[in-house]
Amino acid sequence: QCSLTGRWVNDLGSNMTIMAVTANGIFSGSYHTAVTATSNEIKLSPLQGSMQKSPNQKGQPTFGFTVNWSFSDSITVFTGQCFVDEDGKEVLKTMWLLRSHMENIKNDWKATRVGINVFTRLQSLE
Ligand code: BTN
Repeated sequence: QCSLTGRWVNDLGSNMTIMAVTANGIFSGSYHTAVTATSNEIKLSPLQGSMQKSPNQKGQPTFGFTVNWSFSDSITVFTGQCFVDEDGKEVLKTMWLLRSHMENIKNDWKATRVGINVFTRLQSLE
């Protein structure tokens, strides 16, 4: 069984916390990115997401969430799946799209970055 709730770190060193997932699969949380495409000072940013609740998910649910960056005028959407790997460790395999704000429609072609991130659970020291 893979649960989204808790603290996670990804391959870039970014941290996120996902709060309780509701019965409908809705969740919120916060994201502290380790990197930025801007020259702004990084700040903790809110995220809102949704987890697939279909019984076919077999304890390894698909999900999506949006991070609305508090320190930049861009938005990132993540989509992925919560897996239990061969060692029994929970891992979030995601892809993301980062949409930057453009001054005009002519620049739309260069507005979107794409990538992957792998998240593992942050072990707390209790
Ligand atoms: C910005 O630079 O405008 C906001 C921060 C974007 C951070 C990106 S989102 C995808 C990738 N994964 C991360 O953890 N951080 C970067």
